[in-house]
Amino acid sequence: MDSALKVIAVIALYVFPIALCETTGETFVCPEVGGNGNYADPATCRRFYQCVDNFPYLNRCPAGLYFDDVNKLCTFKNEARCGPLPTTEAPSTENPIDLAQKCDTSQCTLPYCFCSRDGTIIPGGLDPKETPQMILLTFDGALNQNNYDHYQKVFSHNKKNPNGCLIKGTFFISHEYCDYNMVQEFAHRGHEIGVETVSLQKGLHDKGYEEWVAEMIGMREILVNFANLTKSDIVGMRAPFLKPGRNTQYEVIEDYGFVYDSSIGIPPSRVPIWPYSLDYKIPHECKSGTCPTKSFKGTWEVPLNAHYVATYEGGHCPYLDQCVLHSHDANEVFEWLREDFERYYSQNRAPYMMPFHTNWFQIKELEDGLHKFIDWANKQPDVWFVTTTQMLTWMTDPKTTKDLSGFEPWMCDKPEQLPAPPCNLPNKCPLSFKHPETNISGTRYLSTCKECPRKYPWLGDSKGTGVAGADVYSPENRKK
Ligand SMILES: *[C@@H]1O[C@H](CO)[C@@H](O)[C@H](O)[C@H]1NC(C)=O
Ligand SMILES: *[C@@H]1O[C@H](CO)[C@@H](O)[C@H](O)[C@H]1NC(C)=O
Repeated sequence: MDSALKVIAVIALYVFPIALCETTGETFVCPEVGGNGNYADPATCRRFYQCVDNFPYLNRCPAGLYFDDVNKLCTFKNEARCGPLPTTEAPSTENPIDLAQKCDTSQCTLPYCFCSRDGTIIPGGLDPKETPQMILLTFDGALNQNNYDHYQKVFSHNKKNPNGCLIKGTFFISHEYCDYNMVQEFAHRGHEIGVETVSLQKGLHDKGYEEWVAEMIGMREILVNFANLTKSDIVGMRAPFLKPGRNTQYEVIEDYGFVYDSSIGIPPSRVPIWPYSLDYKIPHECKSGTCPTKSFKGTWEVPLNAHYVATYEGGHCPYLDQCVLHSHDANEVFEWLREDFERYYSQNRAPYMMPFHTNWFQIKELEDGLHKFIDWANKQPDVWFVTTTQMLTWMTDPKTTKDLSGFEPWMCDKPEQLPAPPCNLPNKCPLSFKHPETNISGTRYLSTCKECPRKYPWLGDSKGTGVAGADVYSPENRKK
């Protein structure tokens, strides 16, 4: 489709959304505030509504899957929490005097600060033609047998960047069911490890400082204790369900020496938004309603632009597995990804983030379509698959495509700089565990090259000592 036609298609969709989609007799009303996203169908867990600009599109989960109203996606029956679940939005308690100011480009300069009026400007004022198109493959949640081979395959066949070094991705790890031997393996291959949280608890966005420390710093400690990483390997974090913890989460980021957050979703935008530092006000609408409002100097935000195509087929989504592409074949999935990607590649070359949960890889057509896309993108000029930290390093010191062959932060990993390889025969520690929220008991098998802990590590007990509240964390960077 040429671009004039695309514009017409988009306009037509806004005016006549009903013509393009499945509708039902019942009326579902999209929530007025933040009315974009997926919502449980009150009638059945097999279906959900996708609200796009307040119009509800009825969607079905693929055969055998059910809509989980916590993660807002289709998943296996035993994991799905049927909705609609009540939502609680805490009233804002911000002091309006502390609010971050609008971007002031005369005060905000690289390498410490980056912002632009509408968020779409390339750092260093580079021309899009001379800007590398970075792709960030990110994977959320526990690494384990269900996804390890699938994730390996994404990086298989020694796919290389233009400088001849292997392509890289970023993993935001959560604890339950995680295999730390596998985490160590990915870290050893030069992929980036960040934290999600220990427990993926619901409603964390409205909790306090101590809860965020326990979840984020606890997760980092567990990785240090059981995947043999060092604290300085772990510099990024992602809030569960893309619900950032208002200012509280960013205070923890600042106090405990994290470099970036990647939790803020952006509504569909004609031109994608570049990452920015949080020195100034966020340059776009806050989709979750729980973004930070104060200034956090030098803390970077790597936001999640919405994925969509001009026809809105499949809807729009921050995580790719939340768009409705199950019914498509691999070629259609590939074409969809390619159109979505072209919005970046042909415009301002903002980093193209591809965020995934395991779900995507449970459906063969989606997985095959992704492989086709990666193989295709890997052949396009000036396309680089980098970790989130590599991307940020480029942003602080933007180099044109001509100057990248010797760009040090993107060079091949030197073995001595990588985390140690995992052992050949990890301990598979069987640990009984009673989930503190559900009180359901079971056994968790924790794989690690380290000694088995006495108890399953959890909030407040990252070493698994068996003493609840054994952990004492203290801020490393407190600015006072
Ligand atoms: C779990 O057990 C604790 C204490 O034994 C209790 O306070 C709590 O209400 C229980 N939770 C559920 C969901 O049953
Ligand atoms: C942990 O890593 C260090 C080097 O960083 C290495 O000397 C040590 O053997 C590793 N331990 C295990 C259990 O993998």
